[in-house]
Amino acid sequence: MNNKILVTGGAGYIGSHTVVELIDNGYLPIIVDDFRNSNPLVLDKLNEIVGQTVPFYNIDCTDKKKMDKVFAEHPDLMGVIHFAAYKAVGESVEKPLMYYQNNLGSLMVVLELMEAYKISNLVFSSSCTVYGEPKVVEVSEQTPIQEATSPYGDTKIVSEKIITNTVNASAQLKATLLRYFNPIGAHPSAKIGELPNGVPNNLLPYLTQTVNGIREVLTVFGGDYNTKDGTCIRDYIHVVDLAKAHVKALNWLDNQKLPVVESFNIGTEKGNTIMDVIKTFEKVNNLKVNYKIGERREGDVEQIYANTQKAKEVLNWSCEYSLDDALKHQWAWEKTLKK
Ligand code: UFG
Repeated sequence: MNNKILVTGGAGYIGSHTVVELIDNGYLPIIVDDFRNSNPLVLDKLNEIVGQTVPFYNIDCTDKKKMDKVFAEHPDLMGVIHFAAYKAVGESVEKPLMYYQNNLGSLMVVLELMEAYKISNLVFSSSCTVYGEPKVVEVSEQTPIQEATSPYGDTKIVSEKIITNTVNASAQLKATLLRYFNPIGAHPSAKIGELPNGVPNNLLPYLTQTVNGIREVLTVFGGDYNTKDGTCIRDYIHVVDLAKAHVKALNWLDNQKLPVVESFNIGTEKGNTIMDVIKTFEKVNNLKVNYKIGERREGDVEQIYANTQKAKEVLNWSCEYSLDDALKHQWAWEKTLKK
């Protein structure tokens, strides 16, 4: 079996967990990452978990010349998993060009080189952000895509279109668009997890840093939404379950006839409020979270969670971890980080 997979952004949060799952499933991942939103130490930890040295290139994915060299060294890739992208909603509003340049630029380099080297299988990191504020809060892949509320969200919508049009014009390209819900947790070994740069934007790293004494208080953004306790509802998925979906997507893609471009929701099908998350975190870790209810955050969707029937039926994927597990693993990981 040809089992080499190029993983762009493979030192990042979701990328690093996916590399572990790829190796567990007999694949040979090759990481490309320039550490702009990750840390070189992740590679050491990854290598510890998998008991081997994962091949790695320190390259900016928008640099076509350098990326070409990687493809030239591995012309027999079975596929590419493309994670490398910026992902902070607020930052994208401040620096839209940086987001379009990096997120679309890297995707186009990857697609051009996949075409040039006749590589077939692409697994792309998309987001539930493509659904915007949905009319029905349980979203399936049929739920209409809406106008993006941020440049970041727009890069995901446009990326999905670029991939779809390229697949339709290609003689060999096949793709899955994995629409992630809210990834949380860390590897059960606590060797890898999320490493946010500076003040975290996302709920879980902010919460664990507060409990760890790095932040004073977690502000819950809005307590007056139309939900059971007034706080927003999201579908929080364990990052290892999300990582496993990439392996399933690759296996499936490889067995498909052309042309294939399929989107899949990757979530748990459960909506939890922010207060559910705080209370569950306190219960499973036997700790108190210092929080206060604050103003709503601009651009937040009130509630959304996934219908994942398609991923279950087509990819034979489903979640194995619970919210309790994810919050235990998240805390175990946070405790390994220096204050
Ligand atoms: N939240 C707080 N306090 C914080 C941080 C977050 O209350 O300090 C709340 C948010 O308002 C939201 C929930 O926690 O209600 C989750 O917020 P996150 O920032 O963790 O995640 P989002 O749902 O806003 O965003 C995530 C990804 C994006 C993606 C988006 C799609 O981070 O990349 O889902 O909906 F675009």
